[in-house]
Amino acid sequence: MRIGSLDIERPVILAPMEDVTDRSFRKICKRFGADIVYTEFVSAEALRRGVGKSIQKMLFEESERPAVIQIFGNSGEAMAEAAVIAASAKPDYLDINFGCPAKKVAGKGAGAALLREPEKMAAITAAVVKAVSIPVTVKTRIGWDRDSVNILDIIPRLEDAGIAAIAVHGRTRSEMYKGRADWDWIARVKEHAKIPVIANGDIWSPQDALAMFSHTGADGIMIGRGAIGNPFIFRQVKELLQGGAVTTLPDFRDRISVAIEHLSLSVEHKGEKYGTLEMRRHYSTYLKGLPRVSRVRDKLVREEKWQQVIEILRAYEVECEGYEREGKIREYAEFLNDHSKRLVLK
Ligand SMILES: Cc1cc2nc3c(=O)[nH]c(=O)nc-3n(C[C@H](O)[C@H](O)[C@H](O)COP(=O)(O)O)c2cc1C
Repeated sequence: MRIGSLDIERPVILAPMEDVTDRSFRKICKRFGADIVYTEFVSAEALRRGVGKSIQKMLFEESERPAVIQIFGNSGEAMAEAAVIAASAKPDYLDINFGCPAKKVAGKGAGAALLREPEKMAAITAAVVKAVSIPVTVKTRIGWDRDSVNILDIIPRLEDAGIAAIAVHGRTRSEMYKGRADWDWIARVKEHAKIPVIANGDIWSPQDALAMFSHTGADGIMIGRGAIGNPFIFRQVKELLQGGAVTTLPDFRDRISVAIEHLSLSVEHKGEKYGTLEMRRHYSTYLKGLPRVSRVRDKLVREEKWQQVIEILRAYEVECEGYEREGKIREYAEFLNDHSKRLVLK
């Protein structure tokens, strides 16, 4: 897949996720083989006003490259101005969010709301493309609702506006995160688009990743929720794509050790208070499916000192070794395939 000077064959990409894909998590996913990482979305208005938290969100380290900054907004003027600010951080490319279904975004005419205004969507895109010299891409959904699936009408408009690739989450705005992502629509997008297509939605296992490539013919794939608490998925997908079998099945030791690494990076980037606080949402996914975990989780989410958190995790690891000897640890593969326990985050 070629975007500007980037040329990666069948890239496996970490999806942008607010409050999840911060620097610490991106670095972890990168280490496990994510080919491209996206920042959380950043508000164009906030960038324009110089809001410190938003500026922090768009910053990344050289080791994260290829790295992409995603912006959202509801006017060409604000988006063009924000694009220039974001481009000054020198991302490999810039992405526009036209897919967010949340009220705080779509309710203000940004994100997925623009699926109802294809002309405005194209005008905003053209303004952003014109404002910067790096490649610009779009991430969107297939339409507003099932009665107005308009992705095939939107694609040529965005191509004319000059985008370098499009990422499509196979759901409508109304579907939010419900049901199954519609991979047939992504396949249709691939048939019609002249630019590279990145397929997104419901890749929960390395097998799903392979199936997404073959079902849609997409140039790249993007994994969101399936990577939360499970960055190992990137390495596993790579193993399958390279024609082998998945040989790296992380056990509880790997999961606890990566949770600790994640926490340490989080504290390094955000300081003890916020670094520890913001990690709370991740423990349950790292530890999911392990025996008698709820008691440990309760302790973890009350602890404010990061060194104490590490001690709790280490003690739990020792506890798990005991469960292992008793044969009580569920196979990780089984956990991955347990679709009934998928994360529902929004
Ligand atoms: C917690 C959370 C935050 C998200 N934040 C963003 C975001 O900032 N920008 C964006 O384009 N999509 C965002 N998304 C959507 C994901 O990028 C992705 O399109 C969606 O989760 C479907 O992919 P998946 O099934 O692999 O999770 C978010 C999703 C979740 C669950």
